[in-house]
Formats: sequence, structure tokens, C-alpha cells
Amino acid sequence: MSIIDKFRLNGKKVFITGGSRGIGKSVALGLAEAGADIAVIARGIEAAEETAHELEQKGVKAIAVKADVTVPDQVESMMKQVLSAFGTVDVAFNNAGTAVVEKSEEMSYEGLTSVINLNLVGLFLTCQAAAKVMIVNKRGSIINMASMSAHVVNVPQTTANYNASKAGVVQLTKCLAVEWAPHNVRVNSISPGYTLTELAKSFSEDLMAQWIERIPMKRMADPEELQGAVLFLAGEASSYCTGTDIIIDGGYTIW
Ligand SMILES: NC(=O)c1ccc[n+]([C@@H]2O[C@H](COP(=O)([O-])OP(=O)(O)OC[C@H]3O[C@@H](n4cnc5c(N)ncnc54)[C@H](O)[C@@H]3O)[C@@H](O)[C@H]2O)c1
Repeated sequence: MSIIDKFRLNGKKVFITGGSRGIGKSVALGLAEAGADIAVIARGIEAAEETAHELEQKGVKAIAVKADVTVPDQVESMMKQVLSAFGTVDVAFNNAGTAVVEKSEEMSYEGLTSVINLNLVGLFLTCQAAAKVMIVNKRGSIINMASMSAHVVNVPQTTANYNASKAGVVQLTKCLAVEWAPHNVRVNSISPGYTLTELAKSFSEDLMAQWIERIPMKRMADPEELQGAVLFLAGEASSYCTGTDIIIDGGYTIW
């Protein structure tokens, strides 16, 4: 197989959580361009359907599935719908996540648990759902959304809840990679730096200016700039890669 062919995903069945906007949507468009059929998983079905229609314009199959990934029954039902539409799952991009800024000494129980519950527990549930299918298939690639916040402490905002959840994602990814390697199921993560999405734009412009000042490349990422790493991890090009975290941060964590 040529190296270019190893990056093709023709006919591969992919699900993307939080796939209707932001990084999830951008990666969905990228993987569709590479030939993958995509299930867009989101809590809001209308936005997911809109994204699915955009994906179909690229000549692939796409479905929208409503699910809150923190609810085990909904994850189970999500997988049933994906399997009923696509027959199998080859790639899972567990991307759904959120951030809540609170000083740790004042952090509410809700501020702590809502972030850990989505970013880590929900991500585990969708890893598990994907692996159950992939282990039977004896192949599959799971890609988890971590963050540079798994590796450094962001400043000046205070997000110990978020940073701890993302550090958990990196370690969880390594644990699952070891458990599922005998089944030929690879598990990797990506750790983006500041990326221009609705989530990032919810912070003030002044704060964003402070972030940019600290980034060696002096700009935030466009969500499209994360497509390449996910494409690499999704397909044959990364066939010997498991338990790895790819940092894509404009150099933020170097210094
Ligand atoms: N934007 C950044 O700077 C940045 C940097 C590093 C990592 N990340 C991570 O990337 C991921 C996507 O972030 P984004 O910036 O695109 O954010 P976003 O808010 O634009 O998108 C998040 C998506 O997750 C979905 N979601 C939230 N809760 C959900 C739930 N319970 N069940 C199903 N879906 C749910 C949302 O509806 C949305 O579609 C997150 O995990 C985030 O932590 C973002």
C-alpha cells in the first residue's frame, strides 16, 4: 500500500462525539474528505443533522445521532444506532468536552463534577462502547481528545478541574492502549493548544490576547489544523502507534 493510500479512509465507519460544531465538526469534514462515513454524535439533533448534511456533500454517508455521552443508556443507544446505520465502527473520535473556570478554593461541586464527568467519564463510556465492537472485529482506532492542559497549567484562568480531567484522558488512553493492544485496537490522544472555537471564544478577548502572547507561533489554531493529526491516528499510516499523545499547540508547551 502506498503511503498516500495509508492516509485514505474510504468506506471506514467513524463516530465523532461533539461532532456538530468546533473541533469535532472540523475533523468530521476532514475525515469525510478522506472518504470516511461519519456518525455525528451530539446532544442537539438539529445541529448534528445540519453537519451530517454538510458531510454528505462530500460524497460520503453521514448520520446524526442524539446522545449525551455522560449517560450510559444514551451511549448504548448511540452505538445501536451507529451499528444499525453503518454495520460496524472502525474509528472513534471521543471529542466532546467542556471547561468551567473557577478558583479551586471556591469551586462548586457542580463545577468540578460536570467537567470530570463529561471530559473523563463520558469519554471512557464512548471508548468502552467502541472497543466492544472493535475487539470483536480485531481492529480499530480510538482517538481521545486531551489538551495541552494535560501537560501544563494554563494561566491566568483557573481550570484545575479541566486540566486534571485532560491529564486523566492522557493516562486513560495509555491504560486502554495496553489493555486493548492484544485485540489490535489502538488508542491514542491529541492535545491541542488554544483553538478558535465557540468554547475558546466564550473567554474574553483580553484573555485571548494574553494566551497569544505566550504562544511561540503568536496565534491560536484554526480547528482545521487539527484534522491532520486525527487523520494520521485514524488510519493505516499510524498502524504501530498506540498510547501516544500528539501535542498540537503552536509551541506553547515547549517553554
Ligand atoms: N478550543 C480549544 O482551545 C481546545 C483546546 C484543547 C482541547 N479542546 C477540547 O476539544 C474538544 C472540543 O472542544 P471545542 O473547542 O470544539 O468546543 P465546543 O464547545 O465548540 O464543542 C464541544 C462539543 O461537545 C458537545 N458536547 C458537550 N457536552 C456533551 C455531552 N454531554 N454529550 C455529547 N456532546 C456534548 C457540544 O455540544 C459541542 O458539540 C473538547 O474536549 C475540548 O476540551 C479544545
